[in-house]
Amino acid sequence: KTSRYTAVKGNILYFTEDPRTRGEKAWHHHPDGILIIENGFVHFAGDPSESPVPEEEVTTWHDYSGKLVMPGFVDTHVHPPQLPIIASNSTELLHWLDTYTFPEEGRFADSEVCREGAVHFFDETLKNGTTTSLAMATVHTESADALFREAERRNLRFITGKTLMDTNAPDFLTDTPESGFDESLSLIRRWHGKGRLGYAVTPRFAVTSTPEQLEAAGELMKQADDLLMHTHLSENHEEIQTVRKLFPKAKHYLDAYDRFGLVGNRSVFAHAIHLRDEESERLAESKAAISFCPSSNLFLGSGLFRMDNAERHGIPVGIGSDVGGGTSFSQLHTMAEGFKVCQLCRTPFSATTAFYLATLGGARSLGLEKSIGSFTKGAEADFIVIDPEATPLAARRCSRTETLEELLFVLMILGDDRFIKATHVMGKPAYTRP
Ligand code: GUN
Ligand code: ZN
Repeated sequence: KTSRYTAVKGNILYFTEDPRTRGEKAWHHHPDGILIIENGFVHFAGDPSESPVPEEEVTTWHDYSGKLVMPGFVDTHVHPPQLPIIASNSTELLHWLDTYTFPEEGRFADSEVCREGAVHFFDETLKNGTTTSLAMATVHTESADALFREAERRNLRFITGKTLMDTNAPDFLTDTPESGFDESLSLIRRWHGKGRLGYAVTPRFAVTSTPEQLEAAGELMKQADDLLMHTHLSENHEEIQTVRKLFPKAKHYLDAYDRFGLVGNRSVFAHAIHLRDEESERLAESKAAISFCPSSNLFLGSGLFRMDNAERHGIPVGIGSDVGGGTSFSQLHTMAEGFKVCQLCRTPFSATTAFYLATLGGARSLGLEKSIGSFTKGAEADFIVIDPEATPLAARRCSRTETLEELLFVLMILGDDRFIKATHVMGKPAYTRP
């Protein structure tokens, strides 16, 4: 007799709502729970006594009792090609781009650099428990191709796009409105909707795209109704002044994108730190999402993102590592940095909210909440195992916690890649901590 079930025992946690609006109704928590997977999809998550599958029909068991089993992290903004220049000292964004980022991205004209970079990127993300990323490739088609190929090989849900940049950057890194359009279109045809892969139309930011190129990006968005639009917004004061000069007719930074049809419910804007009220209102009205990148915002001295402002306006938010501006691939570390930013702004930021943002909140930002980010029946079974005893200090501290909120808080504040015991992709182990 053949059966197809995988069963995972553990301290099971997932969100189906936002804790800030639904409180304890937002999550499902089963400390001695079971997750049953059928052909890579969630069949059941809950109490073993309520499992619809008899134990003898389970062919594969994973016993993670005492460890947290939750959906994989979603990184809503990251630059895989910047992995080799993480931790490069600079006073601010535009200097950092010119000094480290652009020269490094230039190396991706070489297809071997693209291939090897993609392998390293997914090794790092899986080791940190990130199972889906919205990633910015370089201007080179091959950089996006290599990431898609490697994500496909590992069966990952993954979104990227070739960066569009036709001005204010070195010659070796620029395309043209026409070549950028044509190359993006061929990537969309090759990869968008293939298996678990999706495409994001990716103008780098308003500084490096002419109005003609942003117009072409708007045209690209019409090629399919589930393409994403991925860019940067209002990260740094000098950047904002530059955009003001380059787009004199725009009412504000966001309007430079809006004029070309690039603001909508499929748009993801990284940073969005220094927003005017009209910009927040427009983001909320259009249901566009913000990627909160606290480690990068602190590292580059960009500013303090106002989570309270996003909450008040009802703007969807996800967490972004923004490596190489960000300093870690760990969403645990990034959430801890987010907590500290909120502390400085006197904005309460609970651990349950942070874990929601790093899973279902991120999935919602990318329009993927039906596929990933929770253990709802039928979801793709990408899950991670977090070990509260990863270090002696953590073990001692976690033994003192009494509530779920407290446990999550300690994991977020102390956490890093050492806490990720295992990462599974569609049920199968993709990384196990040695
Ligand atoms: N703005 C334009 N390009 C970049 C980038 O590569 N990183 C960050 N953090 N901001 C940007
Ligand atoms: Zn970025």
